[in-house]
Amino acid sequence: MSSTPIFHRTILAENIAKRTLSPKGASGVFISAPRRTGKSTLINEDIIPFLKSQGAEVIYVDLWSDRSRDPGDLISEAVRDHLQKREGTLLQWARRGGLDKVNVAGIQLDIGKVGIGSGKTIAKALAELSDATKAMIVLVIDEAQHAITTDAGASALFALKAARDQLNGSNHYGFRLIATGSNRDKLSLLVQGKDQAFLSAVLLDLEPLGDDYLAWEIDQYDGEVKPSLDVLRAAFIAAGHKPESLRKALDDLAFRFDVTAENVDTVFQEVLNKIMVDAKQGFMREVNGLPPLQAAVLTVMAITGHDFAPFRTNTYEMYKDACARLTNAAVTIEDSSIQYALEALRTKSLVWKSSRGVYAIEDSQHATWLKEE
Ligand SMILES: Nc1ncnc2c1ncn2[C@@H]1O[C@H](COP(=O)(O)OP(=O)(O)OP(=O)(O)O)[C@@H](O)[C@H]1O
Ligand SMILES: [Mg+2]
Repeated sequence: MSSTPIFHRTILAENIAKRTLSPKGASGVFISAPRRTGKSTLINEDIIPFLKSQGAEVIYVDLWSDRSRDPGDLISEAVRDHLQKREGTLLQWARRGGLDKVNVAGIQLDIGKVGIGSGKTIAKALAELSDATKAMIVLVIDEAQHAITTDAGASALFALKAARDQLNGSNHYGFRLIATGSNRDKLSLLVQGKDQAFLSAVLLDLEPLGDDYLAWEIDQYDGEVKPSLDVLRAAFIAAGHKPESLRKALDDLAFRFDVTAENVDTVFQEVLNKIMVDAKQGFMREVNGLPPLQAAVLTVMAITGHDFAPFRTNTYEMYKDACARLTNAAVTIEDSSIQYALEALRTKSLVWKSSRGVYAIEDSQHATWLKEE
């Protein structure tokens, strides 16, 4: 990752990883935590290394790595890339088993064609890998909620379910899925609906970074006078448990030359407050720059939360009220203009939409700010 130092959450990561590898993790493990609070870091820095140390074969894919790509393609590509990396092992395995090399190369070719929702091919490819390596395969999907924003992504999940059911059978070495997401409601859509691929998977809320992390940040801080753990904790909570905001506040503090042992905590609080106020103002400026109907739709989504029903009569009343507060001009509120506004908000990455038309605000911090207005 980057050169920023990392606070390792070894025990937490090991607990999650062990649970995942145990039979209890067989249906899948889904981890949710708000944006920018350390999901990917925990996965990449601590969970994956531990899984590998236990002999698991780990495939990682971040569905947000390229937002222009279809999530379904990203998943099959990750599987394919991994198989290609392990080609040597697959070939060795084939030779030991007296299998035809061409046959295996044939599988490689098949793998090259692993396409959208081609469940059998993904399942087959993973089964080959499992047999060749005699290892548990763990697929880690970061920002998995994006898988259900397209039909291809949703079919890729069903393909993985097929793979899971096959590999968890007695003839193979097991398959586990770890999925993360920045919104519990969205993630639960993947595990709760009757027709969802990962029904009955475990859905856990990642605990935020704690005092041990904060103490570590204080240690790293090289200013003359350090803020106390108490004030750091309060600031971290106010910042929604985001290390970046905390670090920015510490960086700014280092440039405040009026700091003394007596006032360091107060100054630190001021610095952080300013960061938070600036962040909110920046976002509100963005909202105020939106056409009134888009701003109104976003505000109503924030207020109604997961009960948001975009095309209901009473929701229309709420849009109307919100528009009236924003502009004196008449705003046309009808199905097509709402549809257009939702689509525009999605394109601006402010709103998330599942392929079945469930909408949610992308960043829960935005929802909090809109509700405060
Ligand atoms: N354990 C940690 N030690 C030090 N810094 C951390 C730690 N966890 C997260 N951070 C920092 O916080 C920021 C966000 O972390 P990360 O990208 O892991 O969060 P995320 O929840 O995956 O975010 P996103 O919602 O954008 O996917 C990064 O700058 C990262 O360096
Ligand atoms: Mg992430």
